[in-house]
Amino acid sequence: MCGIVGYIGERNCVPILINGLKRLEYRGYDSAGISVIFDHDSTVVKNKGKVSLLENKIENLNLSARLGIGHTRWATHGAPNELNAHPHFNAEKNLYVIHNGIIENYQTIKKGLQKLGYEFITQTDSEVLPHLIDSFIKKGNSLFKSVQLALGEVEGTYGIAVIYENEPDKIIAARKGSPLVLGIGENENFVASDVSAILAHTKQIVYLEDGDIIQVYKDHFTAKTILDKEVEKEVHEITMSLDEIDKGGFPHFMLKEIMEQPESIRNSMRGRILFDEGTSKLGGLESVADALAGSKRILISACGTSWHAGLVGKYMLEQFTRIPTEVEYASEFRYRNPIIEKGDTIFFISQSGETADTLAALRESKIRGALGLGICNVVGSSIARESNAGVYTHAGPEIGVASTKAFTSQLVVLSLITLLIARKKNMSLVDGKTIAGELSLIPDKISEILKLNYEIEKIANAFKDAKNFLYLGRGYNFPVALEGALKLKEISYIHAEGYPAAEMKHGPIALIDEKMPVVFIAPKDSTYEKIISNIQEVRARGGRIIAVASEKDNDIDKLVDYTIKIPDTIRMLMPLLTVIPLQLLAYHIAVKKGLNVDQPRNLAKSVTVE
Ligand code: F6R
Repeated sequence: MCGIVGYIGERNCVPILINGLKRLEYRGYDSAGISVIFDHDSTVVKNKGKVSLLENKIENLNLSARLGIGHTRWATHGAPNELNAHPHFNAEKNLYVIHNGIIENYQTIKKGLQKLGYEFITQTDSEVLPHLIDSFIKKGNSLFKSVQLALGEVEGTYGIAVIYENEPDKIIAARKGSPLVLGIGENENFVASDVSAILAHTKQIVYLEDGDIIQVYKDHFTAKTILDKEVEKEVHEITMSLDEIDKGGFPHFMLKEIMEQPESIRNSMRGRILFDEGTSKLGGLESVADALAGSKRILISACGTSWHAGLVGKYMLEQFTRIPTEVEYASEFRYRNPIIEKGDTIFFISQSGETADTLAALRESKIRGALGLGICNVVGSSIARESNAGVYTHAGPEIGVASTKAFTSQLVVLSLITLLIARKKNMSLVDGKTIAGELSLIPDKISEILKLNYEIEKIANAFKDAKNFLYLGRGYNFPVALEGALKLKEISYIHAEGYPAAEMKHGPIALIDEKMPVVFIAPKDSTYEKIISNIQEVRARGGRIIAVASEKDNDIDKLVDYTIKIPDTIRMLMPLLTVIPLQLLAYHIAVKKGLNVDQPRNLAKSVTVE
């Protein structure tokens, strides 16, 4: 959730921290702050709101330092205000801590520290850290040892960075449950929640594992565990470029990412389709391909949009592999003692690879001996590293908080996995070739749909003041209805619900009147006639209808208020096309309402707390 960045070196760290925080803002943006140490003195500057406000505040201060840490916050404990913003500090204001995660036993620690005379000025859980570390320093320990001892008392999750005026040659950083990387430069080093914050300066990255604690000097680093064991850390050279995480001329990351989808899904399938054999080749699953095809049951665990992709995956896997497949929210899965048996395979789908619930579900399933496979976008993320095997979606960095290209790339990977298993089981070569061929046509078809951008913008204009929306679809398009509704509510704050179209008459139909827009996902497939009946039912009650329909369907226009015509494909791949207009519709409605599309209120890109 929160974003962390730290610098030690020979340059002025202030602009480096501010630019790093701007890149991390997708992780949280309710307040931000930095603290820097210079000539055995230090200062901290914090502000409510976005990093640009902090930047304005700092501009007049003429700050310059070679060591500093910065934080952008997504509030968990304590209101999003300046006081609760990080960095937090000790009474002497010479030791500073930034923290991403939740200290679950902070009340107990706080009471203990209060008995020792420590005073607390914020409502945050994180504030216990500087005081606790300070209490160990006062007992004569070094900064490193004090952080180690403090973390030994902490329950919960953390990615932290600590600096101290009396040891101004280092940053101490540690992780448990919240992501943290170390970036290696020339006579300078960085710490950050993720590489996007430091990519402008280095591509040499060390990924911290849970339990790791490092001392970062300007020209070297040392690594141990919290329990003081030595650890070897490997330096990875990453290939991501800065261009990939810039807006590239689009007004918002979300629009850029929607428009990128032909390319991003080409990247997801590149080199992975074996056309002649009518199957797929997924390097990451090679070692487990037979076990996978022999699975008695498949489980899919994920959150939010990734969970919707999982639902589409269930439809694909059950239709073509005949392996019973269940999809469960990771947050439910981990707390309800799920039935996991020998022969079960569990996929964990996550764009960020850091979602706390999904990561915890993966860990739980591994304890129970299941084959845990990751489908992640962020290379080197925790889920990617901890799963037994997996597939990267290769969608490229997704910065907009509302997930778009990550979703379609997840669908591509799920269809490749379906193809792989089904061909190993009972799918004919001809059917395999059909799916492979259709898949390869999807990027061009998405390009066609994206040309409707202006048309969809006009529809958005007509509906921007609606208070509610209903999204209805059947079969493969039911999860798309859920996804369309989620996109709209998260960025436009309009209440929206997704339903299987036939379920409408079991309740939601009561909501329909002339104020209720209903989006039907109605391509010409085997359920078309049924969905037309549902459209008639809404029409009879005065509902306003937008239909996503097949381009050859000339009959639907007279039944609905607006149609968005899209190309056809085979049923299993239809969600890759039907979701595109819904992403654009949500985007344009939010823009027309004047809302912050890339950073909607209360949300964060990577949900690393429970
Ligand atoms: C919605 C959205 C969220 C994420 C969810 C899981 O647009 O972005 O619902 O899909 O928080 O995130 P990942 O996929 O990173 O595990």
